[in-house]
Amino acid sequence: MVPTVEWKDGMVRILDQSRLPEQVTFLDCKDYQTVARAIQELRVRGAPAIGVTAAMGVALGAQSLTMTSYEEFAKAVRGICDHLAATRPTAVNLFWAIERMKTTLVGLRGHPVSEIKRRLVEESQRILDEDIAMNKEIGRHGATLIRDGQNILTHCNAGALATAGYGTALGVVRAAWEQGKKIRVLADETRPVLQGARLTVWELMQDHIPVTLITDNMAGALMRQGQVQLCLVGADRIAANGDVANKIGTYSVAVLAKAHGIPFYVAAPHSTIDLATPSGDQIPIEQRKPQEVTSIFGSQPVAPIGAEVLNPAFDVTPAEYITAIITEQGVFKPSELAERFRR
Ligand code: MRU
Repeated sequence: MVPTVEWKDGMVRILDQSRLPEQVTFLDCKDYQTVARAIQELRVRGAPAIGVTAAMGVALGAQSLTMTSYEEFAKAVRGICDHLAATRPTAVNLFWAIERMKTTLVGLRGHPVSEIKRRLVEESQRILDEDIAMNKEIGRHGATLIRDGQNILTHCNAGALATAGYGTALGVVRAAWEQGKKIRVLADETRPVLQGARLTVWELMQDHIPVTLITDNMAGALMRQGQVQLCLVGADRIAANGDVANKIGTYSVAVLAKAHGIPFYVAAPHSTIDLATPSGDQIPIEQRKPQEVTSIFGSQPVAPIGAEVLNPAFDVTPAEYITAIITEQGVFKPSELAERFRR
């Protein structure tokens, strides 16, 4: 797979996902403002990927600062952190990664600014490397839940593209496939931005893993026909009680799965678990612009001009609908998470 995001020649290089699958193009960000815009415009998206990208954005912004006093430098870096933190509100990985960068900064108080700049780049690279390693562990644990011959329904893209590599939900699919299990992914297209159709189908086809694209409104009918054995999705934030925020439409899939007696799994690293948020009711849900719904990619209109629109980017699936949460540390019931991940 091509890297989603990387530090290259003193710049942050982002695979521009808004152009996939037609074009594989990269955006070379020379300043942190461009990184922030890329996150807002979904050129890079997916909870772990935006965390890694924001961390690299902080490191990039720090490189351009000219002051030599620690206090002035740290104040400016904190400003860069605030700018990047204001890009998208729901995925907690963004705030988690920025917090790690701030902790690095504070830990280096008194060191020369030139050294801190280098160490910030190293920390962002560590966040990236750890993300891939966690996804492989998620894959290893999750693959034990998948049997030969199963059809797995997924929603949005929780794959290599949504992370630094390998993927969370699709990491589980990859691991099961690597073990020789003959499986098939049923990919919800995921209106309105079509991450399922454009990204999940693209990345699985790249790896020759069987995938069938379906429209979002087919899931129930396929479940009733016995064509879905398992549902597997990623997460943008998991609250302390095990409620999960993920792409809008996830809740509907979970309710359908429960009605049909089909297991519904969520795959996510610890950077997605937010024990400071007691339940899904407190998770901030991003509202995006109406044009994403009223037209296809801002060009082809699909609704009358002036139509009133709702466009929440995420929904919350209550813990009671979730069979288990697959993490890099193992597979847990939603109710076990708080105990297991308390710091
Ligand atoms: O709006 P997006 O494309 O950033 O939404 C992404 C999702 O909802 C993913 O399912 C989630 O971030 C998990 S990614 C491993």
